[in-house]
Amino acid sequence: MSATPIRTRPLKLQINGRAHGPVDVPEDMMLVDVLHEYLGLTGTRFGCGQGVCRACTVIVDGADGPREVRSCITGAHWFDGKRIRTVEGHAKWDDSGKIVELSPVQQAFLDHFSFQCGYCTPGFVNAATVLLEKLAKSPVAADDVEATITEALNPHLCRCTGYVRYYQAVKDLVLKTPGLVREKAP
Ligand code: FES
Ligand code: FES
Repeated sequence: MSATPIRTRPLKLQINGRAHGPVDVPEDMMLVDVLHEYLGLTGTRFGCGQGVCRACTVIVDGADGPREVRSCITGAHWFDGKRIRTVEGHAKWDDSGKIVELSPVQQAFLDHFSFQCGYCTPGFVNAATVLLEKLAKSPVAADDVEATITEALNPHLCRCTGYVRYYQAVKDLVLKTPGLVREKAP
């Protein structure tokens, strides 16, 4: 009896502003595995593998703006030709590969001691980043800030913290970033 050969197809990806591929990738391989095994981008976390915890969230930038996609349950070939951001794409790096500046979201999480083991953090960074970018285009009413943050972060699971510091960090950032909150009518 012979084993069934693995069917592959060439895949081209646009990740953090860089083109990758074409590389032959199994047709049923999930994006998280391609990031880890083919591209050396290991910052995206594999948690539940079932679409529940959202540790594996990446950002896809489309014509209608950024959105979160779970890379553990989304086949890599679905991303062909799409623009993707992973957690590695947020900070600024120098030519030697050293991080010289964190993104505002990353810095806020650090300043607020938002995480412990950090396994869930890439997902939270991506979720908060998408939220801030959406608010920059469509500011939220002051009374709705907390509910909006809760709605954005609620699907993300963390097994270490009580979530409070993640939420506080995002709330502080939303309130101090100009243009994200609509002023109340006088
Ligand atoms: S690892 Fe993807 S949702 Fe949990
Ligand atoms: S900090 Fe450990 S799972 Fe969130």
